[in-house]
Amino acid sequence: MFLLAIFGILFLSGCKAEQKCTGNPRMYNGKMCASTTWYIDGHKGACGCGPANGDSQFDWNHSGFVAAASQNMFDGNPSKAWCGQMCGKCVKLTTTGGFVPGQGSSVGAGQSHVFMVSNLCPNEYPNLSWCSQDSRNGYLNNYGYHAHFDLEDGSGQIRSIGWRDHNPEVTYEEVNCDQAHQQDSRTPSYGMYHQCQCGQQGK
Ligand SMILES: *[C@@H]1O[C@H](CO)[C@@H](O)[C@H](O)[C@H]1NC(C)=O
Ligand SMILES: *[C@@H]1O[C@H](CO)[C@@H](O)[C@H](O)[C@H]1NC(C)=O
Repeated sequence: MFLLAIFGILFLSGCKAEQKCTGNPRMYNGKMCASTTWYIDGHKGACGCGPANGDSQFDWNHSGFVAAASQNMFDGNPSKAWCGQMCGKCVKLTTTGGFVPGQGSSVGAGQSHVFMVSNLCPNEYPNLSWCSQDSRNGYLNNYGYHAHFDLEDGSGQIRSIGWRDHNPEVTYEEVNCDQAHQQDSRTPSYGMYHQCQCGQQGK
């Protein structure tokens, strides 16, 4: 009985350890948490990061550290699906060592990369489990996160940093894109963003 209790406690604490972020909304070390996934698409996306006369992407939009943000991160207006206020802004994502049970695995804690928001992960099918943060569910997705970032892996950049398929839990904070670009050229600079249709509109 005693041993069973010990195993039970170990098992339960093992389960809880999968997500390091706790609370409502989930936080870790005083920072806001987000869930992440990866995707590949060849479209210029909701910030217009491709030539105006078509739907292809700029090369950096395909191979750089860019992300589609959940609707509530993309813009405060829940129906804004083009040129959101987050377009061209950068977020530093730092792994917590956690992940959503059944949806990923740990990549270890403390790995940081800076991503420019270049797209929207819409609050609609088939994105509802990750990107459905709205007033009806207390601005949390199915896994309790206030924010979600879907990371573009068009040329294997997410695989190369070891995050692909792990869908790591991260903390996020807004940072300066140019400084981040100087440290790692895979993060687009503001100059690159100004090629985007939304960037040209000063948005
Ligand atoms: C856009 O990205 C695609 C895919 O990487 C590439 O084939 C194309 O040449 C790029 N276009 C521009 C204008 O960068
Ligand atoms: C959102 O839906 C698109 C298909 O429309 C899919 O490619 C992408 O992986 C989905 N992302 C998330 C985070 O649900």
